[in-house]
Amino acid sequence: MSATRSVNFTGLDFANPFLLSSAPPTESESNILRAFEAGWAGVVTKTIGLHPVVNVVGAKAKFMRTSPEDACVSMKKRPGAALHSSWNWELISDKTLDWWLPRIRRIKQAFPDRILIASIMAGSGNDKELQNWQRLARDCQDAGADGLELNFSCPHMDRRDMGSNIGKDQGLCSVVTEAVKEAATVPVWCKLTPATADIEVEAGACFRGGADAIVSSNTFPSIPLIDPDTLEFEINVDGLVSSGGLGGPAILPLSLAKMAQLTRAFPERSFSGIGGISDFSQALSYILLGCGTVQVCTAAMLDQAVGPNVIKRLLAGLDAFLERHAADGWTGVESFRGLRRDRIVAQSEIRRPDAAGYHSGYEVTEGYAGAET
Ligand SMILES: Cc1cc2nc3c(=O)[nH]c(=O)nc-3n(C[C@H](O)[C@H](O)[C@H](O)COP(=O)(O)O)c2cc1C
Repeated sequence: MSATRSVNFTGLDFANPFLLSSAPPTESESNILRAFEAGWAGVVTKTIGLHPVVNVVGAKAKFMRTSPEDACVSMKKRPGAALHSSWNWELISDKTLDWWLPRIRRIKQAFPDRILIASIMAGSGNDKELQNWQRLARDCQDAGADGLELNFSCPHMDRRDMGSNIGKDQGLCSVVTEAVKEAATVPVWCKLTPATADIEVEAGACFRGGADAIVSSNTFPSIPLIDPDTLEFEINVDGLVSSGGLGGPAILPLSLAKMAQLTRAFPERSFSGIGGISDFSQALSYILLGCGTVQVCTAAMLDQAVGPNVIKRLLAGLDAFLERHAADGWTGVESFRGLRRDRIVAQSEIRRPDAAGYHSGYEVTEGYAGAET
């Protein structure tokens, strides 16, 4: 049997498991069309909302680099430095729903076989806000969106009932997902914030609300570094900064840890992995942990805005990997998805030179009580 790049994820057929995530690469019709031409199987649009959006003055996103000689991390450009991360405080799309709808329609007409997921976001404090979620869901799916991604993860919201503040509250996760599912005829994915102690709690709440998949991670809360010469934050407006989001290589192991927690807690469910992917080797880690698709932002932003070389590398990497494992009978992503999920165990289950001497960190109980255990 010949190998295939294609995957079915939450009932949708993707030409390959690689998507552009909701971010600047998917903020416009021209970007999304270019992305599909380049070979991305799907895109998640920049998040669409109904509330007013006004971004800060100046740069909304920057990149941090690190130099090999001193491991210094800085936004300052310098020769020989390697990418460390992206940092952003960009809000959701500043374009209205009415701006987006005809564009979603045209994109789907031009590329009916590619998958367009509309990322949406509203509040959650009252019935009117839940109706806003439903309106966004209905309008986007009527325009042709193949699926919906609920943004429970934007780290920049002051509003307590929006973005990552929903993703930190299992009750809100459940209620909003359920409200959207009432209106949705297409699959519903929930993108959770990594800024929570026990992400499986919120994921469980989303699944109880009817979610078809969990997406993780959005950017991690972070602040820029302070310049040692000027004593100013490397990115600031009038000397002030607020918490923003870290993406790119620096979050890869952090995001993998979140994903491992999720896929182990819900081995039968669907997951889309994001964070620090620029090459097939990183995508592979997510797939081996159980993800059915993966999404890319920072690497694409740095590669002609939509990542034509990134998708080329991802596809070539997948093809080469499948070829290398043809003798194992591997014919596609499903052949190796989740293969390493069960290798993550408790500390006490890891071999040590003196296994008998270790009791998961507890003191050895002596005497009569000890004999009983
Ligand atoms: C400038 C910028 C804007 C973003 N905007 C959104 C957004 O509107 N909605 C969303 O769900 N995620 C947004 N993200 C998060 C990305 O989709 C992605 O989850 C995150 O950057 C981690 O992936 P990466 O390591 O490939 O960058 C944004 C990220 C960046 C850098």
